[in-house]
Amino acid sequence: MPNEPRQPDTRFGPVSPDMPREKLWIPRHAPTFFPGPVGKDQHPDRWAFPAWLKNDSVRWLKTLAELYEHPAAFPASISPEAGLLLFSLVRNIRPRTVVEVGSFMGVSTIWMGAALNETGDDPKSSGDAQARPGVIHAIDRFDDLPQNEWRKTAVTDRRSLIESNLTEAGVRDRVELHQGVSWDVLPTLHEALRSAGGVHLALLDGDHSAEGLRKDLIALEPVLVTGGYVIVHDTIPERCGGHVGGRHLLDHINDFSAGLYESVELYLAPLNYGLGVFRRMG
Ligand SMILES: C[S@@+](CC[C@H](N)C(=O)[O-])C[C@H]1O[C@@H](n2cnc3c(N)ncnc32)[C@H](O)[C@@H]1O
Repeated sequence: MPNEPRQPDTRFGPVSPDMPREKLWIPRHAPTFFPGPVGKDQHPDRWAFPAWLKNDSVRWLKTLAELYEHPAAFPASISPEAGLLLFSLVRNIRPRTVVEVGSFMGVSTIWMGAALNETGDDPKSSGDAQARPGVIHAIDRFDDLPQNEWRKTAVTDRRSLIESNLTEAGVRDRVELHQGVSWDVLPTLHEALRSAGGVHLALLDGDHSAEGLRKDLIALEPVLVTGGYVIVHDTIPERCGGHVGGRHLLDHINDFSAGLYESVELYLAPLNYGLGVFRRMG
């Protein structure tokens, strides 16, 4: 969509004569730096956990390494590269209250839970009685999932599975599990989330339809603080099995949300399913 012509900002000194008088938005696929799709023959069938992260003496890394070997982990669980990004975002944003929609077997939950553990905002480890450890409210239907074209094995008894994964990783204390459909569950948590000071960060990785993500955002907004972040996974439909919801949210969030958001899109090598980061600014 073409931009309105801009007037150069001269408040901070003269403007370079090379500055174009008009700047134009370019189509989403036009940037030169846009990693190409992975060809069918190059498409992996499992996530490769980086060798440099393999460390059996760190519980959460050991658990993640094992989980990435689970036949159902690919492609549903976030990639190790996306997990590292999530870990870093949580360490840097330092949210006190996190909502996760779509926990599956707990891979993304463990990346974020480990980051919360590492911030040391715990009365016990910090010696500060006022410190409050961060909490993740993890919402999933936890229903049985059959084997299909992409899921190499059925996954059953998921609630017990995620509980044992979180315990093994040493992040169980960071996570409150909520079973059900996200946009039904979220309103039941509003009061508790409000009393906890609101939601600082949410990961939306459950229903990937446009309507599903719209409903998730609308159910989240009443408790999402100004300045709070929303991360949405799978924003490049043509690279992630036609899931259009993340794209729709990125392109239209300010048309249907109550709040105002600024956003950025990240491509996510190596498979480029894409990730959107929104920040509520009004
Ligand atoms: C792609 S997986 C999530 C992967 C997980 N975030 C990770 O990276 O490890 C999607 C999960 O969302 C759950 N789900 C889908 N729609 C949902 C909804 N509306 N409410 C709750 N859970 C949902 C599915 O059962 C599945 O476990």
